[in-house]
Order: sequence, then structure tokens, then C-alpha cells
Amino acid sequence: MQQSIAVLGLGIIGSRSADQLKQSGFTVHTWNRTPQHRPDSCAEAQDAVKGSDFVALYLKDGIAVREVFESIRPSLTADQTLLNHSTIDLETTHWLAEQCQTIGCSFLDCPFTGSKMAAAQGALVYYVGGDPDVLENSRQTLEATSKEIKFLGPVGSATVVKIATNLISASTVQALSEALAITNAYGISPDTLTDAVASNACGSVLAAMKLPSMAAGDFAPHFSMENMLKDSKFAIQLAENKGINTPGIKTTSQAMENACKKGNAQLDFSALFKAYPEA
Ligand SMILES: NC(=O)c1ccc[n+]([C@@H]2O[C@H](COP(=O)([O-])OP(=O)(O)OC[C@H]3O[C@@H](n4cnc5c(N)ncnc54)[C@H](OP(=O)(O)O)[C@@H]3O)[C@@H](O)[C@H]2O)c1
Repeated sequence: MQQSIAVLGLGIIGSRSADQLKQSGFTVHTWNRTPQHRPDSCAEAQDAVKGSDFVALYLKDGIAVREVFESIRPSLTADQTLLNHSTIDLETTHWLAEQCQTIGCSFLDCPFTGSKMAAAQGALVYYVGGDPDVLENSRQTLEATSKEIKFLGPVGSATVVKIATNLISASTVQALSEALAITNAYGISPDTLTDAVASNACGSVLAAMKLPSMAAGDFAPHFSMENMLKDSKFAIQLAENKGINTPGIKTTSQAMENACKKGNAQLDFSALFKAYPEA
């Protein structure tokens, strides 16, 4: 039987995942806070949710998730599954799980890695926390938008891992910005640095992707500065809860805060490089 899904949040990722789900044969109903001109759009989130087998959240943060959840609560039923793909704070992940348990609907803590291009190709990688049986029932749905699904453990484990990996990504791009500023200042071309990094143990998919666009001054958003700033704050909070000192991500978080104040919130987080005069 054809399955149906409500996609709530049509930003960089949600809009592309909704397209992928449609192409895979799902009946898709979408909703966005700022109305979007799509044939599958509903005026209210509740309308998208009513009767859908799955509800997928691709929202900005914990505040958005809590607000939207309250608006759809009256429409959620025990035979539905809520998939939260938004990167949110751990407290809100546990809150969502509790609310779903009260209603009787299934829930997966299910953030992802992969950016604009991966979403457009249905090639995200999902990190999953929750009940393995719920994952099996949701697998076909998740496969429509992903190339890999990693089960990590109970609810909360995927949120923590997602935040920890974004700590690495933010810190890496800050380090790439500093390295590029130094090599530029010494007259070494960005191509030379990119090539050297590719052959170095410090090389990564992220470095190969970001160094050329940073050098070219292309900061079109794949993952926005304000969303990475949000995730750095989640990382600092997770660390503080356990008494762990994190000077690196605190410095990078401050750099992102400064970038947002300068009007770069909607640019890609690689616009960290704009802090350097020649960028
Ligand atoms: N882009 C990436 O590469 C990437 C990678 C991994 C994880 N993520 C995470 O995935 C989530 C979505 O990412 P994205 O890049 O698609 O973000 P985005 O482009 O910034 O979109 C955010 C979405 O959240 C909605 N929203 C924000 N505040 C809201 C509120 N209070 N109530 C209702 N809706 C609200 C926005 O609606 P409006 O249009 O009305 O503002 C928009 O639909 C985020 O948690 C992000 O951190 C993103």
C-alpha cells in the first residue's frame, strides 16, 4: 500500500527531502511556517499530519520543534511515527520521546549528516536513536532520502553524536580558515594548499569541499552559519553538563556569533573565512 508522509519544515534540507520522497512514490503533504508555493503544501501543519503514516521534522531547532509539535499534537495518533531529523538539544529530544509515548505514537531520534547536494540526491546519512523495531518499520521511508542508516542506540544517542560531529565540522572549518589565511599571506595559492591537504592525514571530504569555495569567496549556504552556531551552543551545553572543558568549540562558537552579528547568519558556515581581511 502507498505510504504517506508529512514533511514539516521546507528549508534547505526539508524541501529537497520532500521532493525525494515524492519521487520514491510516497504521498507527500508539506508545511512550512513561511508559506511555500508547492502543490503538496498545506496551510496548517495539522492538515499535513492528519492521516499520514509518518511525520518528518526538518526544522531549525528545539524551539521550532516544540512549537510545531504543540500545533500537531491534536492530530497525532497511535498508528503514526514521528521522525525528528532536526538537530536539536538533548532535552528537547527526550521531551519529544515522552510526548510521543503519552500519545502512543512511535518516535525516532533521527538527525542526519549530508548537506544541500546530498539531500537533492536522496543521499543523506541518518543517525538513529530509538527502538530498533520502529527503525525497521521506518526503514523504507528513511531509505527514500538517504544512502546510509546508522543505528546508534537509545533515544538521545543520535542527538549527542550529531552534535559531537558538528563540533568537529565547525572546528575544522575554523582551522581551514586560519590555514588558508596564512598560506594566502605567504603567496601560496589556494590550489596548492587544497592539493597538499588532500594528501595529508588532515584531509577530509569537508576540507576538499570547503577549501575551494572559501578560496573563491563562494559562501552560498549549504549549511547556514546560524544553524552551525546553534549546534556549537548545544555542544558546549552537553560538555558543561558533564563538567568537560571545550575551549576549541567555544572559540569557534564566538567566531560564528561575530559572523552572525556582521550579517553573515544566512551564509554558509564556511564564511568563517570572511573574518580574514583578504577573504
Ligand atoms: N543544511 C545542512 O547541511 C544540515 C546538515 C545536517 C543537519 N541539519 C539540520 O537540519 C535542520 C534543517 O536544516 P536546514 O539546513 O534545512 O535549515 P533551514 O534551511 O534553516 O530551514 C529551517 C526550517 O525551520 C523552520 N523554522 C524555523 N523556526 C521555526 C519556528 N519557530 N516554527 C516553525 N518553523 C520554523 C524554517 O521555516 P521558515 O522558512 O518559515 O523560516 C525552515 O523551514 C536543522 O536543525 C539543521 O541544523 C542541516
